[in-house]
Amino acid sequence: MPVNLKGRSILTLDELTPVEIRFLLRLAAELKAAKHAGTERQRLRGKNIALIFEKDSTRTRTGFEVAAYDQGAHVTYLGPTGTQIGHKESMKDTARVLGRTYDAIEFRGSSQQSARQLAEYSGIPVYNGLTDEAHPTQALADFMTMREFTHKHLSDMAVAFMGDVRNNVASSLALGAMKLGMDMRLCGPRELWPEKIFSNKLLDIAATTNARLRVCDDAAEGLLGADFVYTDVWLSMGEPKEIWGERIRLLEPYRVTKDTLLKTENPHAKFMHCLPAFHNTETRTGAQIAQEFGIECMEVTDEVFESEASIVFDQAENRMHTIKAILVATLGA
Ligand code: CP
Ligand code: NVA
Repeated sequence: MPVNLKGRSILTLDELTPVEIRFLLRLAAELKAAKHAGTERQRLRGKNIALIFEKDSTRTRTGFEVAAYDQGAHVTYLGPTGTQIGHKESMKDTARVLGRTYDAIEFRGSSQQSARQLAEYSGIPVYNGLTDEAHPTQALADFMTMREFTHKHLSDMAVAFMGDVRNNVASSLALGAMKLGMDMRLCGPRELWPEKIFSNKLLDIAATTNARLRVCDDAAEGLLGADFVYTDVWLSMGEPKEIWGERIRLLEPYRVTKDTLLKTENPHAKFMHCLPAFHNTETRTGAQIAQEFGIECMEVTDEVFESEASIVFDQAENRMHTIKAILVATLGA
């Protein structure tokens, strides 16, 4: 059966079959090659896409905007202020309004339920651009990047996610890894392990794809043999700043350092991060944390971030190509 994603929403990777995920990764690679060769064909002319951002973004917003423009579509950015959403109009009503004017909606906000309501009531495809629960477009870019940096098949790759292993990025990466039959290690303190219901879901998928899942608090155990070492911020957008101290205490043992990469015992191991990253004190938050807690970096050292092993900017570029694949597959002529 050929893959047909026309009219589909992408709210989590759970809704996509392994074949559909592989199809999107292949399409993204084709679109990337066509853009670089100057042979891209526009398949979204005349389409209008609403981009709702209740939270900040650099990569996801620019990814959607450039992908749409490259393909001939138009976008409207609806930011955290300046619309009626939430304070004067419910998500259900907003969905029905946007559904009359647009061909698709991207949503970034806290609530997965809002993304679901938008999809249910707008009648047009809705793409999750990050919620507290999931970041599916990030995971697609990550798998695309992994493919570019090893000769292995996805099902032969091992990924160790270090740190806050129950956040949106870790959850979507783990879900996708299970679908693709990969070896996924979630390595962090027990206090931040995924809910049992979620890890059971991962194990259920693994049973059908031969994927491997290990949730552990021993960094050395999680890292041994990993092809990719992945981390993310220790405090996600929307979490209270008052818990910085507690998070730093819990997560410092999982900081990605040169020694962390050595523990993989894989000289080709690569470092990954969805970005933005706190690897020095050149941001306002990084500087405040340095002043208050006396640390120069958080989840990754500047040395690793800037090293040859780091493929974080390839991931960032691939956000756009994978988002474009989603738009073309769900809306394209
Ligand atoms: N990785 C990611 O989603 O980045 P932004 O928050 O900049 O969109
Ligand atoms: N876990 C992070 C990801 C940012 C792209 C957050 O939600 O803030």
